[in-house]
Amino acid sequence: MASPDYLVTAAGPLQGTIRVPGDKSISHRAVILAALARGQSVITGLLEGEDVLGTIGAFRALGVSIKGPDRGRLVVDGVGLHGLKAPAGVLDLGNSGTSMRLLTGLLCAQPFATELVGDDSLMKRPMERVASPLRLMGAVIHTGEGGRPPLQIEGGRPLRAMTYTLPVASAQVKSAILLAGLYAQGRTTVIEPAPSRDHTERMLAGFGYPVSRDGHAISVVGGAGELRATSLDVPADLSSAAFFLVAASIVPGSDIRLEQVGMNPTRTGVIAILRAMGARIEVDHERQVGGEQVADLRVTASGLQGIPIPPELVPLAIDEFPAIFVAAACAVGTTVLRGAEELRVKESDRLALMAQGLKALGVVVQEFPDGLAITGGPLAGGVIDSGGDHRIAMAFAIAGLRAAAPVRVRDCRNVATSFPGFVETARALGCDLQVVGP
Ligand code: S3P
Repeated sequence: MASPDYLVTAAGPLQGTIRVPGDKSISHRAVILAALARGQSVITGLLEGEDVLGTIGAFRALGVSIKGPDRGRLVVDGVGLHGLKAPAGVLDLGNSGTSMRLLTGLLCAQPFATELVGDDSLMKRPMERVASPLRLMGAVIHTGEGGRPPLQIEGGRPLRAMTYTLPVASAQVKSAILLAGLYAQGRTTVIEPAPSRDHTERMLAGFGYPVSRDGHAISVVGGAGELRATSLDVPADLSSAAFFLVAASIVPGSDIRLEQVGMNPTRTGVIAILRAMGARIEVDHERQVGGEQVADLRVTASGLQGIPIPPELVPLAIDEFPAIFVAAACAVGTTVLRGAEELRVKESDRLALMAQGLKALGVVVQEFPDGLAITGGPLAGGVIDSGGDHRIAMAFAIAGLRAAAPVRVRDCRNVATSFPGFVETARALGCDLQVVGP
């Protein structure tokens, strides 16, 4: 399918109030746990992005009746932990690494076999990080060449509980093991080297399944309970909001509000980093929604300075670096990120593509195996390849707001995986963003 380009021209200040779409990580988990619960769950505020639609499609294929989504409302008739049915064919999870990794944990515990595939990007992503710990539990999972998809999951194997120390902080690997742990004999414990997003643990508890946490260790006991249907409101995605936190910070005179944004402390690294750079972000009206902290954010333009990014914030801002790099390109001085080699195995190699794109706009960038050093300065116009990565596409759309000439961003179709309505939202705030043919 043809993928459109974005053409962005610098315009006046950003102004207005927006609510960005629902949190992607929470939306995936809401679908998964509602499908495994007993009874009918109603989810509101769900992200209707293609990644989450991929998870919904997979559960329909696994025999779960799901109505919607209709303006963010999804009604799921859960089948219970043991009610999934063998799908008729392979499960295609599109661009979504989260769907593939979490489902691998769940499906290796089912009494039937499954095969998981995805789009060109997903078929290149590393899957041994989930397959190998799950094999230690007794699962039989075959990966393709180089540990990549397709994944053939044999199923029908009893799982043993285990204690597993994650080699890198990864919420997807942690979640896959915990989901398998629901079916394993005994107590499964995952120990994290540093905190990663904790939506799975929170939501399991929200559906009534006992989860214990002790420092960096999270445990579930297989067969210790059931999931009970619930209603759940998904907060707006801070990862999507991040593009506008940066946009309003770098365009002089801007003043915007973002409503009901998820503020889970395992996700707020981007706010800490941007504030350390001098961004003016006010957090108002903090409250709890569906077991998650949310707040309204006000962002006003401000001069930014380059900083060394504190290593402990890296896992707490892992998806926001494309946006943060644009902030760095507009800052005075040099911003240095190290310890972020994980960015090379996201939907694209985000270190390589961001370095290449920023250099094309005239920015001084040094690339390391595990990070970038970016020295801020004036941005020129140019043509950028997003590599089909949604977050790279949105990051360069925002960079265009500060460029001396128009910026054309190629291959922006996948923005729909996480942020349907991005163009309309940007325009509502006053951005000059056109969608043009490939
Ligand atoms: C996610 C976890 C993160 C993140 C991804 C979503 C999740 O990946 O990059 O976009 O929903 O669990 P890792 O867990 O691999 O760091």
